[in-house]
Amino acid sequence: MIRLQGEIEVPGDKSISHRAIILASLATGASEIIGYLPSEDCQRTITILSNMGVPMVKTLGSPRPTLYIHGVGLYGLRPPSEPLYCGNSGTTMRLMAGVLSGQNMASVLTGDDSLSRRPMERVITPLRQMGAHISSTQGHAPLSIKGLRLSGICYDLPLPSAQVKSALLLAGLTAYGTTTVSEPSSSRDHTERLFKTFGIELNQNEGRLSVTGGTAFNGRILRVPGDISAAAFFLVAGAIVEGSKITIRGVGINPTRTGILDVLPLMGADIQVVQRPSFGNEPVADITVCASDLQGVSLSGEILLRSIDEFPILCIAAAAASGETVIRGGAELRVKESDRIAVMARALQSIGVTVKEFPDGVSILGCRTWLRGDCDTAGDHRVAMAMAIASLKIPGGITLSDTSCIHTSFPGFMDLLSHLQK
Ligand code: S3P
Repeated sequence: MIRLQGEIEVPGDKSISHRAIILASLATGASEIIGYLPSEDCQRTITILSNMGVPMVKTLGSPRPTLYIHGVGLYGLRPPSEPLYCGNSGTTMRLMAGVLSGQNMASVLTGDDSLSRRPMERVITPLRQMGAHISSTQGHAPLSIKGLRLSGICYDLPLPSAQVKSALLLAGLTAYGTTTVSEPSSSRDHTERLFKTFGIELNQNEGRLSVTGGTAFNGRILRVPGDISAAAFFLVAGAIVEGSKITIRGVGINPTRTGILDVLPLMGADIQVVQRPSFGNEPVADITVCASDLQGVSLSGEILLRSIDEFPILCIAAAAASGETVIRGGAELRVKESDRIAVMARALQSIGVTVKEFPDGVSILGCRTWLRGDCDTAGDHRVAMAMAIASLKIPGGITLSDTSCIHTSFPGFMDLLSHLQK
């Protein structure tokens, strides 16, 4: 029987990497981003900004991949000569829509089939209110942007979204006056923390964030912690594969992201978190998980929001637990890289797990033995990794329709998984 044992590090945080690349590009002078995530998604952001005249050099070697960026200043981007391709990356498209709306130039943002199905009106509507001219195909990419010097607005997001909030704060950096944003509940706050790191003034008052445009800021040296959303696959693997013990070093534990560290212990997982010195304004820890018997739970509300990207791997934890797990309040899961509710329901059914789908979630009846199966990952990186973890518990494994999508967020995932197998 396979056991997973050892110590690993996971690649840099994806959300922080995108934001650090964008802010370093808009800064004045040199920045160094140590431990950035060299995945396909982040590469889209890098390519777009270097095509707009931002000099960048990367070193992928040890100890951590590092990106050197010479920022061109708030208004220094060059007009792109061709459409800017965001691939599968929603963060690239939404955040860059905010940046490009405030630049005095025309640009077009395009994406792959999955990204072209994802809703963009959530960024288009407030950016138009700031004065940008944006056209789309019924709220979907490609987005044609005629940027100009925007005017600050006050905007209450109808849904919590870190991407929309960040797009507006980035647009606010170049706008006339003050841009104020609020959300119905808190989403991940990496943009706010990085503004502080770059010395950008951000007022936070009763959940309202305000930035005043037009003030230049300088480049910085910063370190990106390991991605908790990448670590999550190994946390669940260590919890459900008998005889396992895994330590993951240097993981970001920003409280807006640590839902998984609350959910797994609620299910009975044996998890220890040892805090380490922060990387700038982002808290960091070493996390150890040992295998144990899990029980089903009910999840919704803020704990789900803080673990929204962990839905696919939480489904695997639920399928391995005794009893029923119910996850509700996650309608947004239907418009991620895939319809994650439908795709995970089908994937679990293909290995013999009983699943009921709701418009905003699932109920999963855990069971001890899963069947050998074929699984359609729908080209979704997190579905592919979740099912690769499930496969460890099935003699003969699961055949996945596509594993190349894993490069979207986690180059080296399969190697790390084999490295742990004892
Ligand atoms: C992200 C925000 C979240 C998350 C996504 C990354 C970000 O999306 O699901 O994977 O980097 O800002 P929403 O903004 O839609 O909540």
